[in-house]
Amino acid sequence: MSALVVESLSVVFGGFRALDDLSLAIDAGEIRGVIGPNGAGKTTLLDVISGITRARSGRVTLGEAIDLTRSSEAEIARAGVRRKFQRPSVFPALSVRENLEIGCGAGCPPAERSRRIVEALTIAGLESQADRLAGLLAHGEKQWLEIAMVLASDPRVILLDEPVAGLSDEETERTVGLIRGLRRPDRAIVVVEHDMAFVEAVADRVTVLHEGRTLYEGAMAGARAAPRVIEVYLGR
Ligand SMILES: Nc1ncnc2c1ncn2[C@@H]1O[C@H](COP(=O)(O)OP(=O)(O)OP(=O)(O)O)[C@@H](O)[C@H]1O
Ligand SMILES: [Mg+2]
Repeated sequence: MSALVVESLSVVFGGFRALDDLSLAIDAGEIRGVIGPNGAGKTTLLDVISGITRARSGRVTLGEAIDLTRSSEAEIARAGVRRKFQRPSVFPALSVRENLEIGCGAGCPPAERSRRIVEALTIAGLESQADRLAGLLAHGEKQWLEIAMVLASDPRVILLDEPVAGLSDEETERTVGLIRGLRRPDRAIVVVEHDMAFVEAVADRVTVLHEGRTLYEGAMAGARAAPRVIEVYLGR
């Protein structure tokens, strides 16, 4: 069952087509890697799904019915589509726990809130840091906290843009386990990254974008072997 369906999506900036009649479908329970050279349209795709950028044409459907291209950013977030931006954006003057409370959202009942915070702390490996100020965390820990804040909102769709940028090899390896721990049968996860070893470890399938179109879709091993993918991206 598809959790998120992108149909014939085009985004135009001035005269430039950042997404060009792009279609793809992501299953519930799936972790999808989205890769491709700089300027391929990866971030633009996440921007359209999260309502930050308007499409020229096409549709993005969440679940059975909700057309995200007709929804506001706030409506999309309320529908359970949550995004982690490339630069960590935690609240530095609040504790880790307080950041997670914000992640839960205002309407969350206390018992459910406690459950989600414990789950998020555990998955992010931040249990011993719960009462520290977020501003005092290491860069990698801030990235994990931001993912944990996304998780605390109980999202149906998680969009992660370059989650291991600037992380050490050891932190990157830990992030693989963290992201795989976010998987749920009713949740779709989209991970944009340039780190191919990371994508191979974390994603079930990959979509290779180039000039706003799909160049390849399938297993990472197949992407590595596809001549066009090697030519425009992996071989450089
Ligand atoms: N707001 C905007 N106005 C004009 N052009 C834009 C805008 N946002 C993105 N673009 C252009 O659209 C193209 C796709 O950009 P996008 O950020 O989606 O690429 P990307 O695949 O995320 O690349 P990277 O790997 O470098 O992050 C680029 O050529 C970019 O310059
Ligand atoms: Mg980008």
